Amino acid sequence: MTNTPDQHGVDPDPETMRQLGYRAIDLVVEWMERLPDAPVGRFPRSEILKPLVEEPLPNSGQPVVEGMEKFMHEYLPYATLVNHPRFFAYIPCPGSYVGALGSFLASATNLFTSSWLGGAVAAQLEEQLLSWVRQAVDLPAEFGGVLTSGGSIANLSALAAARTRLDAEEHHLGTVYLSTEAHFSVAKAAGLLGISDSRIRHLAIDNAQRLIPADVDAAMARDIDSGLRPMLLCASLGTTTTGAIDPIPELAEIAHRHGAWFHVDGAYGAATRLLPEYRKLTAGLSKADSITLDPHKWLYAPFESGCFLTRDMAALEAAFTADGEYMQDIPRDEINLFRRGPELTRGNRALKLWLLLRSVGIDAMADAIRKDIRLCALARDLIAVDSRFEVVTQPQLSVFCFAARESEAATKQLMEDILEDGYLMLSSSRVDGRYVLRFCVLNHRTTEQDIRNSVERIQSLLGKPG
Ligand SMILES: Cc1ncc(COP(=O)(O)O)c(C=O)c1O
Repeated sequence: MTNTPDQHGVDPDPETMRQLGYRAIDLVVEWMERLPDAPVGRFPRSEILKPLVEEPLPNSGQPVVEGMEKFMHEYLPYATLVNHPRFFAYIPCPGSYVGALGSFLASATNLFTSSWLGGAVAAQLEEQLLSWVRQAVDLPAEFGGVLTSGGSIANLSALAAARTRLDAEEHHLGTVYLSTEAHFSVAKAAGLLGISDSRIRHLAIDNAQRLIPADVDAAMARDIDSGLRPMLLCASLGTTTTGAIDPIPELAEIAHRHGAWFHVDGAYGAATRLLPEYRKLTAGLSKADSITLDPHKWLYAPFESGCFLTRDMAALEAAFTADGEYMQDIPRDEINLFRRGPELTRGNRALKLWLLLRSVGIDAMADAIRKDIRLCALARDLIAVDSRFEVVTQPQLSVFCFAARESEAATKQLMEDILEDGYLMLSSSRVDGRYVLRFCVLNHRTTEQDIRNSVERIQSLLGKPG
């Protein structure tokens, strides 16, 4: 191996490690300081990016700092920044500096967190963190869980666990219920588990974008009459488009009466349980069999931080337990996370959120969530007083939808202009078939001035001469 000034074999010497670490931190902090002045969205085609990143195979090593600077200075300017204070598209994932430090420590110490033998202390830490999350969202002590890469795998975990309640010879009869507004990861997970489309019920919603309990009840009864087995009902605690919350207590009762697992997808909205004043919106959550919560969304953890909580840990472990003789040395009566999810090798997922929650504290975290909700209401107010716009859905969490009154074409044009302009970013969706723009505030870095400036920019873009 050819050495470079900062590299001697695979690891540099201790002093060089320090210097490289300091440089990496400087690069990150400088970038974070400049973040508000950077464009939010950049949408280069691969014709631009491929030549930009193309390099010959590095047969001999090159300076570490050069690589770090290349990424930060030459590649990053082409990125769409979901952590930018004016990124209001989709569900923003702002991350956090302390969370990133946790990721670095987890990566540098590289504990094999899947088995007790390789990563006992990290597994115990994950258990501790799950207990904190459970307490923060006010669920009973019987809920356990596992950290996942995100909400999609948490939703998959719910389906896999629910299926274990059916006898193996009945798996082909299991049916799944969700609203037409539920996140696509639920139906995707069902497909992965071999549940054909003909056994997935995408049920209609009311005019507040919520499941209609009577329809769910009727659909389950019909399926039972035809010899099928209601397997899982998924309620949304915060749909992606409008933040709608399905009627949790009624749905829990219906699911359980028909023998189905009741899962609540709170990837977006479950974090509002940190706010006592919001808990009435999610009353009955403790009746759920399982819950998805995405710390990489509204708990400001860096990617990849998802969380699956369930009161039926036995079902979760039944879904994912598999073994090999080469695993025989592992203590079976301890926490072995490979039995709670699809992966064997996985890192210390807990550390980033553990460090973040421990450092920020639940009260300040709740205040940050409150601020997002308040800033979303401010954005809605500013849009609502402009008679050229119609607010199509009110914020239930921290997202609202609006459209230009003039025409759908004008709303679409506005979306294109916002993307091209790059000052802020919104995304579009459909509400009752109507094309709308979504404005979602979920970032501890967003200020009131960001909201005011962004709305002014939207107003001026609508007025932009064609
Ligand atoms: C309601 C909801 N559920 C699930 C997911 C999927 O989560 P992830 O992207 O972390 O896999 C999302 C993503 O935005 C979501 O909004």
